[in-house]
Amino acid sequence: MGKDDNDIIDKLPGVGPATAEKLRDAGYIDVMSIAVASPKELSDAAEIGETTGTKIILQARKQADIGEFETGRALLEKRAKVGRITTGSKLFDELMGGGFETQAIIELFGEYGSGKTQIAHQLCVIVQRPKEEGGLEGHAFYIDTENTFRPERIVQMSEAYDLDSDEVLKKIHVARAYNSSHQMLLVDKVKELSKDIPASLLVVDSLTAHFRAEYVGRGALADRQQKLNKHMHDLLRWGDLNNGVVCVTNQVSSKPDAFFGDPTRPIGGHIVGHTATFRVYLRKSKGPRRIARLIDSPHLPEGEAVFSIIDKGVRD
Ligand code: GTP
Ligand code: MG
Repeated sequence: MGKDDNDIIDKLPGVGPATAEKLRDAGYIDVMSIAVASPKELSDAAEIGETTGTKIILQARKQADIGEFETGRALLEKRAKVGRITTGSKLFDELMGGGFETQAIIELFGEYGSGKTQIAHQLCVIVQRPKEEGGLEGHAFYIDTENTFRPERIVQMSEAYDLDSDEVLKKIHVARAYNSSHQMLLVDKVKELSKDIPASLLVVDSLTAHFRAEYVGRGALADRQQKLNKHMHDLLRWGDLNNGVVCVTNQVSSKPDAFFGDPTRPIGGHIVGHTATFRVYLRKSKGPRRIARLIDSPHLPEGEAVFSIIDKGVRD
């Protein structure tokens, strides 16, 4: 799956610019899609001979990152390393099976003001706490697409735990993403930086806002989903490699007269939904109260938890 330069079909030996163009038009957008094609399919799509098609496919198979088989034992060992970041609310933690899991993507979706950004801030503080106190003793990366990261809020949340807020802020690494391509590149940067920075949390707030703004209309849908798919897999890979929690946010409108599609469905539809390990639907209740509903999870029952957002942060 998508490995940057290796993923560009133009770089496959035997594929010239004209052929690349035809292949792309026919939907062969990455090396993997060519690796699994038949010579006949390629030949029809790009008006090349089947022999040339076979050669291109063999090259693509060499380059495609097909992945390794892992033994059940290795997988069990990996599962044993799974850690959790608590949320500040016992009920919310219980809903999530003890907190937000590492090696997983947790998607928070809900309307404006439902608490997505607040929870993301809270995780950035708690991730730094010792394990006995619900953290992972790790740093946090924060990809901020809407300019809503607030260091002042981190100070407030840190002081609630008697933490030195300066030290806490030093361990949160924030980058503004200016568009969806930049957002995707920042994940590569995070991967690079994670060699030196022991991070256990990666936040993308918002996962979908740029994509929604840039890929408008039916014609752009396939392209958007394909990009989001790659983005999600990059994120999941970071979580796997670093035994970290990936928390992404996704806005849905509660208004029935929304411009785009079904207003109750989160943006990114099945792509985001299937790649996220846990989906949490957040909604507003009275005053500081919020309701979290666990929608999809591999091994936890669906359910709801009520929590509050107060000055100290997320609490019961
Ligand atoms: P969008 O990004 O607009 O989709 O919303 P969101 O889901 O990210 O909402 P966010 O997490 O920003 O929640 C905002 C709400 O959190 C506010 O309406 C307040 O209710 C609450 N909140 C934010 N900061 C504070 C604070 O310092 N003290 C208290 N008590 N509540 C706060
Ligand atoms: Mg927000």
